[in-house]
Amino acid sequence: MRLGGNASYVAEVTTPEQLQQVYQNAKKMNQPVYVIGGGSNLIAHDDGFAGVIILNKIPGIDIIADDTTSTTIRAGGGEIWDNLVKFTVDRNLAGIEAMSGIPGTVGAAPVQNIGAYGQELADTFISLEGYDTTTDSFVTLSWEDCGFSYRHSIFRGDSAGRYIISAVTLALDKRVPEPPFYESLQKYLDANDIHEYNVQTIRVAVLAVRENKLPDPAKLPNAGSFFKNAIVEQWKVDELRKEYPDIPTFAVDDKHVKIPAGWLIEQCELKGQVINGMKVHDGNAVVLINDSATSYADLAAAREEIISIVRDKFQIVLQQEPLELNGSINS
Ligand code: EPU
Repeated sequence: MRLGGNASYVAEVTTPEQLQQVYQNAKKMNQPVYVIGGGSNLIAHDDGFAGVIILNKIPGIDIIADDTTSTTIRAGGGEIWDNLVKFTVDRNLAGIEAMSGIPGTVGAAPVQNIGAYGQELADTFISLEGYDTTTDSFVTLSWEDCGFSYRHSIFRGDSAGRYIISAVTLALDKRVPEPPFYESLQKYLDANDIHEYNVQTIRVAVLAVRENKLPDPAKLPNAGSFFKNAIVEQWKVDELRKEYPDIPTFAVDDKHVKIPAGWLIEQCELKGQVINGMKVHDGNAVVLINDSATSYADLAAAREEIISIVRDKFQIVLQQEPLELNGSINS
């Protein structure tokens, strides 16, 4: 987001052992520690971080098991997420191709259970390895241990700050991806006369759809979706549908439905507007771009204004999606 103050120290680690060593040294010096991957889904405060930022650069992508139907891959937490997606797509493996182009690293992916265009990390996830700062030991956590749900896991919930993820293991499928695909993806495939569905064509299509809707954080400072999509009870949608027959919704379970935050914000006529230096993105109103904000305080004021306008119109309270560097999340 290109906001926020400096950190006292930054340490790059390339092995789990280095990670443990840096963490223990920081502890001896009474310094708080925060681990970041790419940092693209993180908001820093104006007073910076009085402690040690660990940059997780642990590399490696390895095939660890292979049979007739699936291939198991283990990747280092510091690998760039999209390099892992490309690695799997190059080998015709399905399961994460729709998550092409998501910024960030492999180690960050489980924290918010990344997802896009009908897939989420939890769908292919087998286990992860990490350093447990509470017990000073290395652990392996299973799918059940991680407590995944929509854009959530134990790593941003009850266990925030406890584990540092050093490797992630996923099981990819050898089957060809089959429709129905996520609506905007299917629209793109149809509009471009792409009828041969395989992981390569899906990756290319996803990258093109993303380019249209989501600004590249390297060019325009942003953290992807700034708000989580709202999860509401079915009755609430039934009510809203009377006034907004075209409201887009996604089923979550028997009783709950997801309403895109971008749609809610757009209905409030905020798309394209600049509030306190933060611009509501034209392509998708769920994304905030740092247009001319100079401080975290500017961003916080913009966030509160958007939340309050949406709340007044829909009686729905949006929640911030990116994490905050102070270790807490605004929710
Ligand atoms: N919509 C609007 N106006 C907007 C934005 C969206 O009307 O300004 C409507 C669209 O027309 C569509 C629906 O809302 O009917 C869904 O929009 P879209 O497919 O663009 O996805 P989204 O719900 O806004 C989510 C994820 C994205 C992910 C896309 C595609 C969240 C918070 N966001 O966005 O993830 O790429 O689906 O799967 O769940 C991210 O996490 O940073 C991120 C970009």
